[in-house]
Amino acid sequence: MRLTDEDMHDFVTQVQDILQLEQVHEMKNYIQHGKTTTYTHCMVVAYYSFLITSHLPMKLDTKSVARGALLHDFYLYDWHIPHESHKLHGFVHPGFALTNARKYFTLNSIEEDIIEKHMWPLTLLHFPKYKEALIVCIVDKFCSLAETLYLPALPKDYKRIHQQISSWKPIQ
Ligand SMILES: [Fe+2]
Ligand SMILES: [Fe+2]
Repeated sequence: MRLTDEDMHDFVTQVQDILQLEQVHEMKNYIQHGKTTTYTHCMVVAYYSFLITSHLPMKLDTKSVARGALLHDFYLYDWHIPHESHKLHGFVHPGFALTNARKYFTLNSIEEDIIEKHMWPLTLLHFPKYKEALIVCIVDKFCSLAETLYLPALPKDYKRIHQQISSWKPIQ
């Protein structure tokens, strides 16, 4: 299963302003799991979450899924390097990502829920309120496991995303 040309166009169009923000590309400087950077991790989680929600029979907000998933780990530090500010990284980083995302973008309630609740069930009381957030939460688990085990997690058409966005100018 992969995105059709039309769906791929929708996907990149819906996240264009996010991918043009220079600070979002800072995620390329940090490893998330294995050899995968936080940027690639977020792109892959966004791609699969968008792909799945586009194919499910119920009506879901695919745009919020793409945007929330892309920003779900926008916390900008290497969690492998111990530091007082993130010694409970698993619990605190959704809040850091949400603060950063709010700084640059106007988020709707689904996007906020996706970012804030994506670590459930680790964050016991933060159960996803929206179906979209639950889907991203599950996709994030599978992608994280694949990356940690060095299994191939990149979508077959991942390069197509970069071909489409390569001409975009970054914005600060
Ligand atoms: Fe995370
Ligand atoms: Fe993640």
